[in-house]
Amino acid sequence: MQHQNILFTNNVSDAITSILKDKKFNRLFVITDSNTRQHVLPLLADNSFIAEAVNVNIEPGDIHKNLDSLASVWQQIGEAGGTRHSMVINLGGGVVTDLGGFAASTFKRGIPFINIPTTLLSAVDAAIGGKTGINFRGLKNEIGVFNEASDVIISTAFIATLPIEEVKSGYAEMLKHGLLKGQSAFDKLLNYDITSGDPDHLLTLLQESVEIKADVVRQDPHEHGIRRALNLGHTAGHAFESYAMQRNAPIAHGYAVAWGLVIDAVLSHIVCHFDSKLIYRIADYVLKNYGAFHFTCDDYDALLELMRHDKKSQHGEINCTLLGAPGDIRIDCEIAPDTMKEAFDLYRDLMHI
Ligand SMILES: NC(=O)c1ccc[n+]([C@@H]2O[C@H](COP(=O)([O-])OP(=O)(O)OC[C@H]3O[C@@H](n4cnc5c(N)ncnc54)[C@H](O)[C@@H]3O)[C@@H](O)[C@H]2O)c1
Ligand SMILES: [Zn+2]
Repeated sequence: MQHQNILFTNNVSDAITSILKDKKFNRLFVITDSNTRQHVLPLLADNSFIAEAVNVNIEPGDIHKNLDSLASVWQQIGEAGGTRHSMVINLGGGVVTDLGGFAASTFKRGIPFINIPTTLLSAVDAAIGGKTGINFRGLKNEIGVFNEASDVIISTAFIATLPIEEVKSGYAEMLKHGLLKGQSAFDKLLNYDITSGDPDHLLTLLQESVEIKADVVRQDPHEHGIRRALNLGHTAGHAFESYAMQRNAPIAHGYAVAWGLVIDAVLSHIVCHFDSKLIYRIADYVLKNYGAFHFTCDDYDALLELMRHDKKSQHGEINCTLLGAPGDIRIDCEIAPDTMKEAFDLYRDLMHI
């Protein structure tokens, strides 16, 4: 796999210039969604590369990460004279980096692309690691390829216009990375006030977080083993997300992950002797910043059923990533239904529901 260049800076315009001045291309396309076109693109208007680039726009939101938007991107690039010597910048959240990355990977059999994530979630997760794609026939990320952006510019310069729920959602993935890394990385995250909005401090936390993900992906780019560590919080998280969807009250992915982290901390305590004091700290932080996902014992079986159909589960078993302690990762832990029910009980106690 080629080496991916990741830059951390709040001077994004200079970073774009330093990357592009050494690259050869005949035309530059900047893919945005309507929100990043309105709020972010103007902040880069002074950059001469951006000023000359062709803007290709899609509608915002995961429901537009679909074949229609993809076809429209291919069409807009083609009509504006794109060739196999063209270059793409994806300027947006995970929807833009996933779809734009896939569009670039397939246009004329693939043209290079750069990611400039504009949400915390895309900075910490979607924009690095090479997963690109679209949703298809109601299935998330059904069609896509592994292909990395040549360069990724990570900044918190665009966070000011991002709704606070989106900031918190991305921060949950950072908490996950902190738990995978170790106690001191995790402590720094718990000590940061998400609502304080200090972009420079956030950038240092983000850098550490991105390096943790990049490190895991480097060891296992195609998810045969240790990359599954990144599923921490996601088995219960995905079940909460699907269940909320079925109840017509969708929840943000990162919120589901935050609640899923509480479940995995409890399971880690039951199965791997994870420190109970830390469970309380995690649960307090999550409750304070994300509230609680509400369910009763009447919902347990439906939640278990969703977990058995999770993509990580191959034969109907429930599969989780757990921890002996922060940084001590146990992938592929099979959880018995009764153990999961015990974790649900403890979660409800901790979240006062
Ligand atoms: N490829 C991967 O490894 C990976 C990992 C995680 C998630 N994903 C995908 O990422 C997507 C979710 O990403 P997301 O949370 O970034 O969602 P998103 O791209 O939909 O962005 C969230 C919202 O914020 C708006 N926005 C973005 N930047 C803004 C800014 N600076 N100011 C104001 N508004 C802004 C967007 O228009 C959108 O409405 C999903 O499609 C998910 O499947 C991919
Ligand atoms: Zn996630």
